[in-house]
Amino acid sequence: MNRKIAVIGAGNVGASAAQYAAEANFADVVLIDIVEGLPQGKALDLTQAGPVRGYNGMVTGSNNYKDIKGADVVIMTAGIPRKPGMSREDLLSINAGIVATAGKNIKKYAPKAFVIVVSNPLDIMTYHMWKSTGFPENRVVGQAGVLDSTRFRAFVAMELGVAMRDVNAMVLGGHGDTMVPLPRYTTVNGVPIKELIPAKRIKEISDRTCGGGGEIVKLLKTGSAYYAPAASSVEMARAIMCDEKRLLPCSCHLSGQYGIKNIYIGVPAILGGGGVEKILELQLNKSELKALQASAKKYQGVLKEIGY
Ligand code: NAI
Ligand code: 2OP
Repeated sequence: MNRKIAVIGAGNVGASAAQYAAEANFADVVLIDIVEGLPQGKALDLTQAGPVRGYNGMVTGSNNYKDIKGADVVIMTAGIPRKPGMSREDLLSINAGIVATAGKNIKKYAPKAFVIVVSNPLDIMTYHMWKSTGFPENRVVGQAGVLDSTRFRAFVAMELGVAMRDVNAMVLGGHGDTMVPLPRYTTVNGVPIKELIPAKRIKEISDRTCGGGGEIVKLLKTGSAYYAPAASSVEMARAIMCDEKRLLPCSCHLSGQYGIKNIYIGVPAILGGGGVEKILELQLNKSELKALQASAKKYQGVLKEIGY
């Protein structure tokens, strides 16, 4: 294939992203990890699934960053995941070191790539990746809003017993307890959910969305979610590589939009061949805007902890 995705980290999210990307059949995939044999083994296994699943892209594995050469998109998943009792911020210092190393190598071996960051704490690691690569802000974006919104969509579909794909939702803000689900922008094929679900239930579903990652950590006990995060990352990679101009909530660098500056945080953006092509400024009401700004403020504080 003439397109290539590099996935850094061949753990749960990385391997699932490689699988979804291979099945989407629009790019070759290279998996990178520090553990010897892990990316090679998973890549070989995924390649052998190709004839049965009907995909043609090559999936390869490597312990050497030089093999990301020529990647159009890099999906950064390396890092440690949350265990029960840990917040995403607990991962800060370990994952910051991993992101810095990856950033330098992406700059060296794939200087024209678009980077989709998944490693947590997401909005902080995306900022750190932006600084570590030195890439323009349209080429470094974080994956969180697609996941948080698909969780919201799934819960609404479960509540109403309607098709998952008919539900559209928008969750903004940081990828953590301060995220901002927007029921006003959530519809079932255009029908606002407030016409279908009582306000009290909408609030409960919004709260479940905010705790969606933690709910899975509690159930799994040894790590965090990976199928939906991986699927969300590949959705973003595809939007960029196939120039789809998707309107998706993503962690983007803000320079004054929503009254927020010099931070990565979840906002609606157009993702296409130019990466983050445009950030949309919704007409948020007072409480929505306040919640988004409060979320940004929290992350501004966390950025200071890693020297920004
Ligand atoms: P995992 O532990 O299954 O996989 C992480 C992989 O990274 C491991 O295979 C490890 O060997 C590798 N790794 C560690 N240091 C590395 C380095 N310097 N270079 C290359 N590879 C390295 O963890 P999982 O579940 O895949 O999660 C990965 C990250 O994604 C975590 O930080 C997690 O919190 C985050 N995450 C973010 C989500 C989001 O929506 N933004 C959702 C789910 C997870
Ligand atoms: C999630 O939301 C842990 O960020 C990860 O599942």
